[in-house]
Amino acid sequence: MKTLIEAKNISKIYPSGGEDTVALKDINLELKQGESVAIIGKSGSGKSTLMHILATLDRPTDGELLFAGRHAHNLSVAQIDHIRNKRFGFVFQQFFLNARSTCLENVILPLTIMGISAAERTRRGLTMLEQVGLLDKAKQRAGELSGGQKQRLCIARALITKPLVIFADEPTGNLDTENGDIVTNLLFKLQKEHGITLVIVTHDHDLAKLCDRSLVMRDGRIVAPDSEQQRRV
Ligand SMILES: Nc1ncnc2c1ncn2[C@@H]1O[C@H](COP(=O)(O)OP(=O)(O)OP(=O)(O)O)[C@@H](O)[C@H]1O
Ligand SMILES: [Mg+2]
Repeated sequence: MKTLIEAKNISKIYPSGGEDTVALKDINLELKQGESVAIIGKSGSGKSTLMHILATLDRPTDGELLFAGRHAHNLSVAQIDHIRNKRFGFVFQQFFLNARSTCLENVILPLTIMGISAAERTRRGLTMLEQVGLLDKAKQRAGELSGGQKQRLCIARALITKPLVIFADEPTGNLDTENGDIVTNLLFKLQKEHGITLVIVTHDHDLAKLCDRSLVMRDGRIVAPDSEQQRRV
């Protein structure tokens, strides 16, 4: 399988007044096209930091990142912005939706940024809303949705650019079991149907078990791929 993202000896240090925080130490990993990977580990172990760096939302202090075999340091800011906007989709625990805009407006926002025509935006927006079961909410304000519906709206927005990779940080963290299951099923269904790479940070071991493999983090290091799952793959 094609390698989409490669991290080589990545470290991240957050400077602070007193002691620096070493959030990541010597991380090496490869993300392949179409695989699902869970990142698990205790609070503060570096999961979100790692995901943000892989997703180009944050920069490593040291080490190298490669996107489709190309070194990030050889890419321009515009090229990295393009990768982030066009190739990556994001689903976070805090929804980052515009509560006053309609569901349709929220979903098509990435297309607006990309300069796609209004008719095409609406067409694709309605198709995505249908896929996540929110077509009847198209004209409703996002702020009026339930938590589970908001998360589905975020997934629709993450997918509308047809990304290669979806980064999800605790996508079910704020949801009850029923809505968590709906969101989980949706993510995996879309991953399988579209061959998307799924990277999920989670505390939920049941969710992690659904992934092809898990990376366990401790104190800024990947200490182990989850052994039980390694055997399954
Ligand atoms: N912006 C920041 N400035 C300074 N330190 C930070 C920053 N972000 C994270 N850290 C520190 O880096 C370490 C790793 O944080 P990170 O958010 O990656 O953990 P996490 O595994 O995602 O935890 P959680 O499960 O609680 O979300 C922590 O010690 C944290 O305090
Ligand atoms: Mg986190």
